[in-house]
Amino acid sequence: MEKHSSGDEVTEMCLLALSFFSFLAFTRAEISSKIGINYGQLGDNLPSPSQSIELIKSMKAGRVKLYDANPEILNLLSGTKIQVSIMVPNQEISNISSNQTLADQWVRDNVLSYYPQTRIRFIVVGNEVLSYYSDRDRETWSNLVPAMRRIKKSLQAYNIPNIKVGTSVAMDVMESSFPPSSGMFRSDILDTVMVPLLEFLSGTNSFFFLDVYPYLAWSANPFNISLDYALLRGGNLNYTDPISNLVYTNLLDQMLDSVIFAMEKLGYPNIRLLISETGWPNAGDVDQPGANVYNAALYNQNLIKKMTAKPAVGTPARPGMTIPTFIFALYNENQKRGPGTERHWGLLDCNGKPVYGVDLTGEQESNDDQLPMPQNNKPYQGKIWCVVASEVNPEQLVSALIYACSQGNGTCDALMPGKECYKPVSLLSHASYAFSSYWANFRSLGANCYFNGLAVQTTEDPSRGSCKFPSVTL
Ligand SMILES: *[C@@H]1O[C@H](CO)[C@@H](O)[C@H](O)[C@H]1NC(C)=O
Ligand SMILES: *[C@@H]1O[C@H](CO)[C@@H](O)[C@H](O)[C@H]1NC(C)=O
Ligand SMILES: *[C@@H]1O[C@H](CO)[C@@H](O)[C@H](O)[C@H]1NC(C)=O
Ligand SMILES: *[C@@H]1O[C@H](CO)[C@@H](O)[C@H](O)[C@H]1NC(C)=O
Ligand SMILES: *[C@@H]1O[C@H](CO)[C@@H](O)[C@H](O)[C@H]1NC(C)=O
Repeated sequence: MEKHSSGDEVTEMCLLALSFFSFLAFTRAEISSKIGINYGQLGDNLPSPSQSIELIKSMKAGRVKLYDANPEILNLLSGTKIQVSIMVPNQEISNISSNQTLADQWVRDNVLSYYPQTRIRFIVVGNEVLSYYSDRDRETWSNLVPAMRRIKKSLQAYNIPNIKVGTSVAMDVMESSFPPSSGMFRSDILDTVMVPLLEFLSGTNSFFFLDVYPYLAWSANPFNISLDYALLRGGNLNYTDPISNLVYTNLLDQMLDSVIFAMEKLGYPNIRLLISETGWPNAGDVDQPGANVYNAALYNQNLIKKMTAKPAVGTPARPGMTIPTFIFALYNENQKRGPGTERHWGLLDCNGKPVYGVDLTGEQESNDDQLPMPQNNKPYQGKIWCVVASEVNPEQLVSALIYACSQGNGTCDALMPGKECYKPVSLLSHASYAFSSYWANFRSLGANCYFNGLAVQTTEDPSRGSCKFPSVTL
C-alpha cells in the first residue's frame, strides 16, 4: 500500500510520546514575537491546554488566537504578555444580534472575567461565517454585523473600548480577485453584509480579518501559477497589474491587494488588514501537490520575514503598511475533516515537537537546506484509488461501507452476489472497492477519500482478476 500518514499512524506516534517535560527540551520552534499563532484544538491527541500555553510561551509568540473563549486557556494566559484573540462561536451570533442582554452577558462571561490580567485584544465574531460551506451559516449572514455592533456596544458600556471587534472571512468573499485591481466582493453579500461591515470596521477603527492561503490558490491552479511565486520567493517573477500598473512579486500580495481594491471601491480605502489565518500544509494526499514539510517551512519562514521587516514593507497597493499576522496553526489537528492537508497545518506535531526545525524568528538566514527535498511539488498525474487504511475499527468500517454504497449511482453494483467484485466476501475488500467507487463517482462534487481516517489514497491498482476498481485519473 502507498505510504501515507493516516490519523492512525499519528495517534500511534503520540501514544509513544514521552512525558511533556521531556519534549520541551527539544523544542526549537521559536517564532517572531510580532507574529501570532492560531491555537486550534480539533485533535484528540494534542498536548493539554497548560502544556500548550507553555509551548506558546517557549515559542515566544506575541499573540494567540482562539476559536472560542475557553475559560481554562484564558486563565492560563493570565499574567502573560501574550495578546489574545477570542471568538464568538457562529451559532451564538443570531441570538446576540437581537438581544443586547445576551451580548452584555457574553462580554461579562468571556471578557470581563479575565481582562485585563489576560490581555484580550481582539474579539472575532464568527469564523468564516460568509463562506458557502455551511448552509446554516447563510442564515447568520444578515445577523453578523448587528451582533458585532452589540458586542462593541457592551465593551464600550463596560469601559473597555480598546478591544477590536472583527469577523474572519475567507477569500471566497471575493467575486473577483485577479488582477488585484479588479478586486470585488461577492454580489450576494455586497450590499447586505460587506457595506455595513466596512462601515462598522471603519467607524470603530478595527481591522478587516482575512484568512488568506496562497497554497489554496496555487494548488487549484498549479500549472499556471509558479510555486515560487506562491512561496514568497519569486523575486524575479514579477506580475504587473495591467490596470493599476502595480508590480507583484508574490501571490500573497496579490490576494491582499485584491481585498484592498474591493474595499476601496466601496469607499473605504483606509481599513487596516489583519491576516487572521495563513500557512502552508506540511503533508497531504496524493492528489494534493505541494503539501510538504519543505514548502511549509519555506512559506512560513518567508512570511514571517516579510511581516516583521523593519521598516514594514506592506503590499504594492499599501507600501509600508503593517499587517498583524496569525499563522495557522499551532498543531496538526487530527480531527479536522476533509482532504489530507486539513490535518497537517501545524508548526508542531501532536507531541508538541516542531514539524520543521527552521528559523521562524525572521532574524536568521534561511536554513532550509536541512530539510528533506520535496517529492510532490509537481501535480501527480495518473490513476489514484481510495482504499481502506491500515488498522481500522471494523464496526466503523461497516458504517462507512453502508454509507458509501447508499450514495447511489451504482457505486456498489459490482459487489452484489454473482457480480465481478462479490468475491472475496470480506469486509476489507468490499469496503476498499466501495471507497474507490464512491470517490471516483463523487470526487467532482467535492467528495473526499477520507471516511474519518478509514480511507487513504493509493497509486497502486487494487483491482484483481475481473474485478476492476474504479479510479480517479489526474
Ligand atoms: C438562541 O435562543 C433561542 C431562543 O431563546 C434558544 O432556544 C437557543 O438555545 C439559543 N441558541 C443558542 C446557540 O444559544
Ligand atoms: C434577551 O435574553 C435574555 C437572557 O437570555 C432574556 O431574559 C430576554 O428575555 C431576552 N430578550 C428578548 C427581547 O428576547
Ligand atoms: C492556464 O493558462 C492557459 C494559457 O494561458 C489557459 O489557456 C488556461 O485556461 C489556464 N488554466 C487555468 C486553469 O486557468
Ligand atoms: C521584480 O521586481 C522586484 C521588486 O520590484 C525587483 O527587485 C526585481 O528586479 C524585478 N525582477 C525583474 C526580473 O523584473
Ligand atoms: C453517475 O454515473 C453516470 C454514468 O456512469 C455518470 O455519467 C455520472 O457522472 C455519475 N454521476 C456522478 C455524480 O458521479
